[in-house]
Amino acid sequence: MEVTLRNIGKKYEGREKFTLKGVNLKIENQDFCVILGPSGCGKTTLLRMIAGLNSITEGDLYFDEKRVNKTSPKDRDIAMVFQSYALYPHMSVYENMGFSLLMRKENKKIIHQRVMEAAKLLELTDYLYSKPSDISGGQRQRVALGRAIVRKPKVFLMDEPLSNLDAKLREHMRVELVRLHKTLGSTTVYVTHDQTEAMTMATKIVLMNDGKIQQVGKPEELYNKPANLFVAKFIGSPTMNIIDGKIKNKKFVSKDEIIKVTPSKEDEEFLKDYEGKEVCLGIRAERFESGGQLGDAFECRIDVVEMLGKEKILYARLKSGFELMISVPGHYEYEEGENHFFGYNTKALHFFDKKTGKRIN
Ligand SMILES: Nc1ncnc2c1ncn2[C@@H]1O[C@H](COP(=O)(O)OP(=O)(O)OP(=O)(O)O)[C@@H](O)[C@H]1O
Ligand SMILES: [Mg+2]
Repeated sequence: MEVTLRNIGKKYEGREKFTLKGVNLKIENQDFCVILGPSGCGKTTLLRMIAGLNSITEGDLYFDEKRVNKTSPKDRDIAMVFQSYALYPHMSVYENMGFSLLMRKENKKIIHQRVMEAAKLLELTDYLYSKPSDISGGQRQRVALGRAIVRKPKVFLMDEPLSNLDAKLREHMRVELVRLHKTLGSTTVYVTHDQTEAMTMATKIVLMNDGKIQQVGKPEELYNKPANLFVAKFIGSPTMNIIDGKIKNKKFVSKDEIIKVTPSKEDEEFLKDYEGKEVCLGIRAERFESGGQLGDAFECRIDVVEMLGKEKILYARLKSGFELMISVPGHYEYEEGENHFFGYNTKALHFFDKKTGKRIN
């Protein structure tokens, strides 16, 4: 099923400002759409509006061609998985999974069939007669998913379903969820504030801030072509280096005049109207190149080396005191206190308008 939001706005009673404003979005059939953004930006509000649990203040919500603004949750053919997935402690895994169907007076045979199917898919067959207290956190999370799956909804809505799990289990469940989505093919809307979850699972990311959509696209699009400074800083770890400066004689020159970059021919075209104006240069930590042979290289002092295994993050200071984060392969040798030269891959430079924050190139 396709979910379309047209100019959706939400104002809670008693609040002065709109929590969401002008949200336009098309979630395609079979999309794994991740709503991403910092705490309080309106993710849960948006999801609950799609679910029918929050009223819609303005705009239109469509499931395929049908306008569903006023349709009650139970008639929307959706299933929701929450962060706090409270299972019924006195019921077995089997009963927990079948409960919603039982409430709907579904035929016992069909319930059995659906629960067994879901249990097989989620590898819960061995635990069907255990109580929630006797299984692990990850298994409990899968039961919560199972509860949603047995209903065979057209749309899955999930609100931070993995945030209660430890890091290892979360990593595991991420892959499980992607597999499950491939098998079931249901349209999924998944809310998280964790950019790694979004990058690894989404077919489409919707990055929000302060009640407004900042960018919609595939993970690579947000990573490689962030539409503005907010997206640039939110996506990617470590955070993209952002350097304030000006365009002088077609070159980017940083405020402290230490970093001087000659943009690529393509970027030069985009920067034509910015001669003499303030811009921000964005460089991802992994796009620096070690060595001084490049014309635009700069010198810095390594303050701190963070060893992460496959990579090292160098916290490098320019003479002006400005700090850059530089990522190098983990087996490279860098010591704290050393001075080094770095250049850049000019194909990987991001330019933003200082005033508006919008991407230039
Ligand atoms: N029932 C409510 N009444 C009034 N204001 C609300 C209500 N629910 C949420 N809000 C406000 O709306 C804004 C968005 O909240 P929402 O829960 O959608 O954020 P979120 O992006 O899901 O954040 P988090 O990542 O912390 O879960 C917040 O400022 C919040 O205080
Ligand atoms: Mg929330």
